[in-house]
Amino acid sequence: MINFKAYAESTGKNALELAKICEKIAIKEDVNIIICPQFMDIPVIARKVKIPVFAQHIDPIEPGAFTGHISAFSIKEAGAKGTLLNHSEKKMIFDSLSLCISMAKKYSLITVCCERDVTRACAIAQLKPDFIAIEPPELIGGDLSVSTAKPTLISDGVKACGKIPLLVGAGIKTAEDVRRALKLGAKGVLLASGVVKASDKEKAILELISGMK
Ligand code: G3P
Repeated sequence: MINFKAYAESTGKNALELAKICEKIAIKEDVNIIICPQFMDIPVIARKVKIPVFAQHIDPIEPGAFTGHISAFSIKEAGAKGTLLNHSEKKMIFDSLSLCISMAKKYSLITVCCERDVTRACAIAQLKPDFIAIEPPELIGGDLSVSTAKPTLISDGVKACGKIPLLVGAGIKTAEDVRRALKLGAKGVLLASGVVKASDKEKAILELISGMK
C-alpha cells in the first residue's frame, strides 16, 4: 500500500504518473498494490487505473450541511475503494474513528486503520476494520525500517489483531524490509517515502516487490 501523502512528487500530474507505474507493475508482477493519493487526485486516478485507489482519511459525517469535511459518500463517488484512517499524521479520536468505520462499511469502502503500537492496535481491533496498520511514528520517513528496528512489534501485532490482517509501515525501503515484515506475519506493508521520494520510482517498487517472492 503506497501512501502518496502530500508530497509534490505525488501530486497532480506526478500522482497520475506514479499511479500508472503502480498499475503497470501490479499487473506485470501479479501483486496487489493499493494507492492512496490526495483527495483532489482521486477522481482522475480512479478513472485511469484499475488498481484500488484509497483516500488518506475521511471525516465522520454523512452528506449534509458540513463545510470543509470529507465524507465516505464523497470518496465513494470519486471512485475510491477504501480509506486509510487514523494515520499518525491525521489522528482521530476513538469515537470518530468508530463512526468512520461504520460509515465506510455502509458505503462498502475498505478500511485500513493505523495505530502506533500493539496496545492501541488491540483497542481498534474491537472496531473491526478490514485491516490494521501499525506504524511507529518515530520511524516514519526515516531510513531505519520497522522490520529492522521493531520486529517484535510486528509479531506481537499479528497476535493482537487476531483475524484482522496486519500491515506494517515506517521506513520500509528495501526488499529485505518487506521480506522480514511478511516473515513475521504481516500481510503487507504501508509505505510512502521509499517510493515517492525515489529518483527511479519504478525501480524502487520492483525492489520492494522482490521481497514478496
Ligand atoms: O503511511 C505510510 C507512512 O506513514 C510510512 O511512511 O515514508 O516511512 O514509508 P514512510
